Amino acid sequence: MSSRCYISVYSTMTVDGRIASRTHYSKLSCPYDLKRLHELRAKSDGIMVGANTVIVDDPSLRVKYVEGKNPTRIVVDGLLRTPLEARVYTLKTARTIVLTTTVAPRDKVEALKGLDVDVIEFPGRPPIDMRRATEVLYDMGLRRVMVEGGGELLWHLFKDGVVDELRVTLSPYIFGGRDSVSLVMGEGFSTIEDARKLKLVSVKVCECGQEVHLEYEVTG
Ligand SMILES: NC(=O)c1ccc[n+]([C@@H]2O[C@H](COP(=O)([O-])OP(=O)(O)OC[C@H]3O[C@@H](n4cnc5c(N)ncnc54)[C@H](OP(=O)(O)O)[C@@H]3O)[C@@H](O)[C@H]2O)c1
Repeated sequence: MSSRCYISVYSTMTVDGRIASRTHYSKLSCPYDLKRLHELRAKSDGIMVGANTVIVDDPSLRVKYVEGKNPTRIVVDGLLRTPLEARVYTLKTARTIVLTTTVAPRDKVEALKGLDVDVIEFPGRPPIDMRRATEVLYDMGLRRVMVEGGGELLWHLFKDGVVDELRVTLSPYIFGGRDSVSLVMGEGFSTIEDARKLKLVSVKVCECGQEVHLEYEVTG
């Protein structure tokens, strides 16, 4: 069996499990939560996000609020829908790796390479097998990768059984809505027998007094 990188998911969600509202509003963290998130970024070799998160939020994925090196940015984008103007490609604050497939447009692959982005092409149509992806990232020298979302990417990681730990902050809001984004989207598991199983490791009331930070180990 090949070695793979360790995957730690960090998300901040409403009490009803939404990481973004129906209008894609997702600024849910208090300043203490942001600091916690950036501390974990600084301890990681890579930060991974899905294509929609890049399209909607245009994050730079830098370390702010704490001292530390910017980790490698990893974008999972099976069809290369993310724009070339995205900050993960244009801001040269860290290396960027894009995980895509051989059906993505050739001109986009070449344009990204022209921006010094490392493009890894997996054979066939999306979705990419995320276990294979974590093995490839390990072979590229990445040992600890933090995943910030969104929900579709998290589904693929949970489905493929490669999430090692989940850290989630409960923010004191309810978004509701069938078009909002849940922590984990995709087709979903059917019963607790096939669901991913978690072991609670720690519960902390945030310094702000309103959020709760939960840490889980993924056990099965
Ligand atoms: N609150 C928080 O902590 C937080 C953190 C991050 C993001 N968010 C929010 O989450 C929302 C975005 O979430 P989302 O669920 O819509 O999208 P997402 O997970 O960011 O991106 C999903 C897309 O990424 C690509 N992708 C994911 N897994 C793949 C795989 N295994 N193989 C190939 N391609 C893959 C697919 O693109 P194709 O469909 O083109 O194949 C997929 O549609 C945004 O509103 C953002 O603000 C919130």
